[in-house]
Amino acid sequence: MNKVFIETYGCQMNQADSEVVLSILGNQGYELTMDINQSDLILINTCSIRDNAEQRVKSRLMELEALKRKNSNLRVGVLGCMAERLKEELFEKNKVVDLVVGPDGYRDIPLLLNEYNKGQRAFSVMLSDEETYSEIKPVRIGTNGVSAFVSIMRGCENFCSYCVVPYTRGKERSRDFESILNEVKDLFDRGYREVTLLGQNVNSYLYEKDDIKVDFSDLMEMVALISPLLRVRFSTSHPKDISEKLIKVISKYLNICKYIHLPVQSGSAVVLKRMNRKYTPEEYLKKIEMIRNYIPDCAISTDIIAGFCGESIEDHNQTLSIMRQVGYDYAFMFYYSERPNTLAAKKYPDDIPLEEKKKRLDQIITLQNELSYISNSNDVGKEFEVLIEGESKRSKEKLFGRTSQNKVVIFDREDNKIGDYVRVKITSCTSATLMGKK
Ligand code: 5AD
Ligand code: SF4
Repeated sequence: MNKVFIETYGCQMNQADSEVVLSILGNQGYELTMDINQSDLILINTCSIRDNAEQRVKSRLMELEALKRKNSNLRVGVLGCMAERLKEELFEKNKVVDLVVGPDGYRDIPLLLNEYNKGQRAFSVMLSDEETYSEIKPVRIGTNGVSAFVSIMRGCENFCSYCVVPYTRGKERSRDFESILNEVKDLFDRGYREVTLLGQNVNSYLYEKDDIKVDFSDLMEMVALISPLLRVRFSTSHPKDISEKLIKVISKYLNICKYIHLPVQSGSAVVLKRMNRKYTPEEYLKKIEMIRNYIPDCAISTDIIAGFCGESIEDHNQTLSIMRQVGYDYAFMFYYSERPNTLAAKKYPDDIPLEEKKKRLDQIITLQNELSYISNSNDVGKEFEVLIEGESKRSKEKLFGRTSQNKVVIFDREDNKIGDYVRVKITSCTSATLMGKK
């Protein structure tokens, strides 16, 4: 058996893709190893979303040179968004790289390995309008046996002006709903208790065949009906597309988690326009109101970009203000990183100095810490159903799991095991975690 080591950078989508790749390689006599020194093939699944994500991969590739000097049979492949963005340049700039495979080329990997064995540099970076890896059964990597990602669509056509994804992951396409349901049923039968349905913009999921038409709300409902013991999550929603129909479905099923990631990016109308987000702060707040009306206990998280092109102090203050207005439970926060060939790179100067971007980001992070603490404090004294995911890193005597709202709870192990549902009463908190007792 050949041994493959896969390292994944970036988003959950990449994690799901690495699991597809492992499945494809499994059919070719490769098995996963967690020990890089034992591997015959190292695959790095990469992310291009910000420059620092790419820099991390580049320094990782340099580290791999030493391993390759020790083992001349070792092959190194770069997968994912950087492969798509940089193509042959990756071979030229990084001697260690043998294979370059973009997000739609994973079925070609066995063929490429053969080509490489014949002494040719091998790459596959064509994007496809159809590829969804629909029937491939992902092989889970580093799993806790409880929660799994399930990719339901690929690509993105929103063209937010800062974002490289539409160029690296291509056109939007939805996976056959039956193959999604089969994958989820199989996971449930194997003991999994939580799935996260993944796509760049899940709200535009639409599968049409003959006279069947399944949209995202329909799909969520079908997945929720597989078993009341299966928790269903999803990521990511675009605020312009999240519908009342979906919110109603989320509120209707106990096992659909009461947590929505709804990235606002900025609180300023002019910045949102420049970002090509296609909503105003007022429209965004209306969606929040709709969510709260139907699901009062819904947790809401966001993505925020600090220091986008032309962002004034007033714009930045509007971001802080919308954060307070929504009272986010959690946020992923970044400073703007210009990506080559995006609409923003072509149209708007990256004119906020790095120091200033970092200062604004710091203010955003400080505020979010306060908001997360307020949100967590409001949970103290309440009881939640928690799905147990693992052992606490700090103590073997404690377990951790999540509430439906996606908050991490730590509590005494007692006689519970991973994958169980338990009711936990929250006794204290920090801005990052809840502590509780059964
Ligand atoms: N610079 C900084 N953050 C970015 N994101 C996407 N592109 C960029 C960029 N060029 C952030 C957005 C998006 C999240 C996945 O990454 O907030 O929602
Ligand atoms: Fe990028 Fe916007 Fe698509 Fe998200 S919705 S992947 S931010 S272009």
